[in-house]
Amino acid sequence: MDDPRSLAKRAAAARAVEELAPGLRIALGTGSTAAELLRAIAGRFGRPAPFDCVASSRATEELAQSLGLPIRPLKPEDRFDLMLDGADEVTPSLDLTKGGGGALFREKFLARLSRRVVILVDDSKLVRHLGDSHAIPVEVVPFARPVLAHRWAEDGWTVTWRSDAEGRPFVTDNGNEILDLRPPRGLEDPAEVDQRLGRIEGVVETGLFCGMADRVVIGHPDGTTDELRRPDR
Ligand code: A5P
Repeated sequence: MDDPRSLAKRAAAARAVEELAPGLRIALGTGSTAAELLRAIAGRFGRPAPFDCVASSRATEELAQSLGLPIRPLKPEDRFDLMLDGADEVTPSLDLTKGGGGALFREKFLARLSRRVVILVDDSKLVRHLGDSHAIPVEVVPFARPVLAHRWAEDGWTVTWRSDAEGRPFVTDNGNEILDLRPPRGLEDPAEVDQRLGRIEGVVETGLFCGMADRVVIGHPDGTTDELRRPDR
């Protein structure tokens, strides 16, 4: 028996797949919801699925290829019709926390190359402010990590150096590490925090995705979905 969150993620993925037309250039996200999406694409379109895809992580690439969804490397002038991805938190204004799976840099990089960004979540991901329920992941250069962790702890964040299932430092696909920053309270101005953190030497990328999502598809455990859309797009 599937747990309610998995059912909700599957519902969001199924809804997104209904709208895909063969030939689209798609940037693929990472995580358990992205995995549901890949399975839904394979179920609907068969092998090989008729899309031109780039993946935001090795994990997504491996799963996609095992399901018959061809993945290729980035090309110099790449642009995508669509990015499909999950998120850890979504606010009513469609700001996101991402990076629970550690793929935040590649996810943000691909989102910026995409004409539309559609986010798929289960309904537990909806929050009032970013940081309400999830720490903010920040990918950092390993050499700088001790200094950055100390600085952010002094600034009032609760800082966790992310580890993998074996208790070793988590290493991103880019060879970097992740510091998870818990704010004392939800962020009132996440875009400002994103810019401030991003300017610090040694920071590769933050998991704050502000103003990037065009649409969020929200799945519920009973199989229904609804959505949030950015009013200006
Ligand atoms: C991966 O780095 C993340 O940004 C994921 O998209 C995010 O953590 C959501 O993951 P789930 O779909 O597993 O909840």
